[in-house]
Amino acid sequence: MVIFRSIGVIRTPYVGWAPYQPVEEEGDFRLVLEPRYAEGLHKLESFRYIYVLYYIDRVQKPLELIVAPSWAGGIRVGVFASRSPVRPNPIGLSVVRIRRIEDNVVYTSGLDVFDGTPLLDIKPYIQELDAKPDANYGWVEDLPDRDHLILHIKGIPHDY
Ligand SMILES: C[S@@+](CC[C@H](N)C(=O)[O-])C[C@H]1O[C@@H](n2cnc3c(N)ncnc32)[C@H](O)[C@@H]1O
Repeated sequence: MVIFRSIGVIRTPYVGWAPYQPVEEEGDFRLVLEPRYAEGLHKLESFRYIYVLYYIDRVQKPLELIVAPSWAGGIRVGVFASRSPVRPNPIGLSVVRIRRIEDNVVYTSGLDVFDGTPLLDIKPYIQELDAKPDANYGWVEDLPDRDHLILHIKGIPHDY
């Protein structure tokens, strides 16, 4: 048994719907930490990007170990080979840019979460340590509609 306590709350414009992954868009995206954690943000602004970890608290579907991402043309993959929000431990991970930090509030680029999602942790995203130039698209690479589906996996809006 592991018990986490949230360190704050994520504020976004999204109610009942959010993009599949973070997308660059204007809007009010904020990590509002409990004031007692504000000191822990010291020097975070020196980084351009951060990892945001959160509790995906409003999952409604039952857990399945094999999932068929809605955008992937029916292919079935293990939940751990997916970014599905329905997981044994519903922990979400998003990489976003810091816009600015004021007291206990981190203003960020777009996040892919519902407004009010509980915030679990923030970590700096570090050049070379975290960016892997030989990373690939996994099973998406084998699909016939690869280039189109990569837009989905990246959360890039498109109209075809
Ligand atoms: C596919 S998940 C990806 C989350 C994260 N970027 C990751 O890879 O772990 C993003 C989706 O989770 C859902 N979602 C976001 N916040 C949620 C919340 N608080 N409770 C339940 N579902 C949520 C939305 O449908 C959103 O499109």
